[in-house]
Amino acid sequence: MNRWSHISVNPIAGALGAEVSGVHLGELGDGALNEVREAFVEHQVLFFRDQEITRDQHKAFGRHFGTLQIHPYLQPLKDQGHPEFVVLQSDEQHPYLAEAWHSDVTFMDEPPLGSVLKCIVAPDFGGDTMWASMYAAYEALSDKMQRVLSDLVAIHDTTRTFSRYEYKTDHIGGRQAPQVMSAEHPVVRTHPESGRKGLFVNSTFTTSIKGMKPAESDALLSFLYRHITTPDFSCRFRWRPNSVAMWDNRCTQHRVVADNRTANRRMERVTINGDKPF
Ligand code: SIN
Repeated sequence: MNRWSHISVNPIAGALGAEVSGVHLGELGDGALNEVREAFVEHQVLFFRDQEITRDQHKAFGRHFGTLQIHPYLQPLKDQGHPEFVVLQSDEQHPYLAEAWHSDVTFMDEPPLGSVLKCIVAPDFGGDTMWASMYAAYEALSDKMQRVLSDLVAIHDTTRTFSRYEYKTDHIGGRQAPQVMSAEHPVVRTHPESGRKGLFVNSTFTTSIKGMKPAESDALLSFLYRHITTPDFSCRFRWRPNSVAMWDNRCTQHRVVADNRTANRRMERVTINGDKPF
């Protein structure tokens, strides 16, 4: 039985991800918006096709879920009046930016609730994006491992990414001479809306486990980074221009599949502020 009255929701994989149809994100009524909210918490990442929305409509859609973040390092459209956008442009000159698994901006005390990514230019083939459910990754661990992780806190910082020289590039709107930003978060976080537990470490920003010796921390994190790549926890989305993905950054990770490296691909993203993980 279809329980949705205003939208259609079709899961695309077992662990997470659903395609939503029957809505235009620029003209959402309250009924459709409430159902999108519900589907978002349930499916963790939602996909919408054929969304010809302006940048203002893109921002307005994000604001239904919270205030928008101004990225601390990337504001490529600031001079055009849109400091809230992050642009992911790849082509012959510019490599893919997000080809390692990550949750967005976890080096801040209050990492984002989620992001809304719109495809502007899609490659003829390749350049898909993958997401992984951190609920599924956590739930697949043994009780013993879940208990070991439950008291641990991890350090997340920008030393592997935005604070490196290679990231200070103009084409992505990178800020010059960025300082290192860092934050501490529980290794297992509880989602504030669903109440479910999920892993909250990622190989892009998590650098160590607090209070462990480097060899111990490295071994445990390497295991978890490998574990989260288990295909059963993931879904994969093929982009077309005007496709939009909206993911919950509190319980998922994502990465681009960097397989057509010279193709022109442009994505624009707004990011919704979140709260302190617990
Ligand atoms: C992102 O990490 O926000 C975007 C991933 C992608 O380019 O597919």
